Amino acid sequence: MPPFSVTTPIYYVNDVPHIGHAYTTIAADVLVRWRRLWGDEVFFLTGTDEHGLKMAQAAEAQGLTPKDWADRTSERFREAWKELRISNDDFIRTTEPRHHRAVQEMLQKVYDNGDIELGTYEGLYCVACEAYYTEDELVDGNCPIHGRPVQRMREENYFFKLSRYGDRLLEYYEAHPEAVQPETRRNEVLGFIRQGLQDFSISRTSISWGIPIPWDPNHVAYVWFDALINYCTALGYGSERERFEHWWPVDYHLVGKDILRFHAVYWPAMLMAAGEAPPKHVFAHGWLLVGGEKMSKTRLNQIAPGDLVATFGSDGVRYHFLRDQNFGPDGDFSYEAMVARYNADLANNFGNLASRVLNMAVNYLGGLSPEARENGPLRQQSAAALDGLSAGMAKLDFAGGFGAVWDLIRAANAYIEDRAPWALQKAGDAEAVAAVLGDCLETLRIVALLAFPLIPDAASELWRRLGLPGTPEDQRLPEAAAWGSMPAGAALERGPSLFPRLEG
Ligand code: ME8
Ligand code: MG
Repeated sequence: MPPFSVTTPIYYVNDVPHIGHAYTTIAADVLVRWRRLWGDEVFFLTGTDEHGLKMAQAAEAQGLTPKDWADRTSERFREAWKELRISNDDFIRTTEPRHHRAVQEMLQKVYDNGDIELGTYEGLYCVACEAYYTEDELVDGNCPIHGRPVQRMREENYFFKLSRYGDRLLEYYEAHPEAVQPETRRNEVLGFIRQGLQDFSISRTSISWGIPIPWDPNHVAYVWFDALINYCTALGYGSERERFEHWWPVDYHLVGKDILRFHAVYWPAMLMAAGEAPPKHVFAHGWLLVGGEKMSKTRLNQIAPGDLVATFGSDGVRYHFLRDQNFGPDGDFSYEAMVARYNADLANNFGNLASRVLNMAVNYLGGLSPEARENGPLRQQSAAALDGLSAGMAKLDFAGGFGAVWDLIRAANAYIEDRAPWALQKAGDAEAVAAVLGDCLETLRIVALLAFPLIPDAASELWRRLGLPGTPEDQRLPEAAAWGSMPAGAALERGPSLFPRLEG
């Protein structure tokens, strides 16, 4: 079993979960559920980022201690992920003792290697980013990410000597062209490195809500030198060396494009300085826009995942975000488009196929799956669905990959129209009815299996109604997707719509 590890960003607890956070987290979940079907030993990590000025300020505004505030908000993320069926193996909080140990260990390593030095920093600082910007990075004098004013800050800081790592990073990315994805993001990263890298500040004396620097506890670690290390902490860095070495380096860091630079420039350099390997892949996706704008607290255009789950179910939400836009570029969210896609793809295509086939099988075959099979066009199409999904998932093209599964669903609906089992039944051709429905039931089994990573609830329920043992999760690819595995004599069950139609 090869190990396969995937991470999401750890989300700031100054904000409550919205569909932007859900977007990355669902993508990671679908990827790991897919790899588990192949028998990989998976580690899927998400969590919350709880230190820094922004958090201390958010807590104060609520009249709470930073810890109390972090406890509450972190819990909201856990609840949201539970509601969305996120199957993370660990949930890390940067305020945990294991993370303190890991951060201090890595800081000390890098300090001992000579890549951390004391200096004075004066610059333009965005509190929302917890990062300094140069004059020419600002847009109309404001933070390029948040569009908010920056403030001039001056303090004595420890600096990480990032400037020493330009050549090593370029060499690494030369040898590992797949390490930053998609291609546009890779080019952006290479361009940034080629401009020349500046040392960055990794500590603060002005705040105390953070992890003390081991050799100079008046300083606390600056948020990125704290946050990024979470990925190592959870795999045992600083306490269980053997476990850490089993898992490291991470297979995929999934991030939004807003934090690409931190993951693809700062982070691999920090790891090199600590004597560890850089991550295998950083994939940066685009923004989910609402009304053409990025969601933010200040614009009051945030949508909570729970509000959508109430209407569309967790499967409906998961399906929409991974099928409606490509994983890479920005995409606009609209409620109307979500209703339309739900009705077309889930209520009509998926839901109808399941209910037609199960209804006919109960009515015409006495509710037992037949031995017979026509081995018509769906056999080919099922193999194509597995191939298409595998090809898509290998490059994190969720829309394309699951598109191949929905092509199979459409082909099955067309096959039913074409073969018209109701007419065969009327004509008394029981053998043909069994053969056609045998194909359809086999196809439903394969659909339930392949759609499982994306819509786990409906796929599991369909699996159960097909009278199959266990759950899709227990199956192993590619064997389980082989045509002809539907057992004869399974007790079939119709049941209410898997995806009831929604009114626009
Ligand atoms: O940056 N569209 O946390 P954060 C798509 N704590 N994705 C979005 C999004 C949107 N509109 N809004 C947020 C941080 N995201 C740091 C990370 S990691 C060591 C530390 C997602 O709460 C996307 O993944 O601001 C983005 O990168 C992340 O949330 C930022 O979350
Ligand atoms: Mg942010």
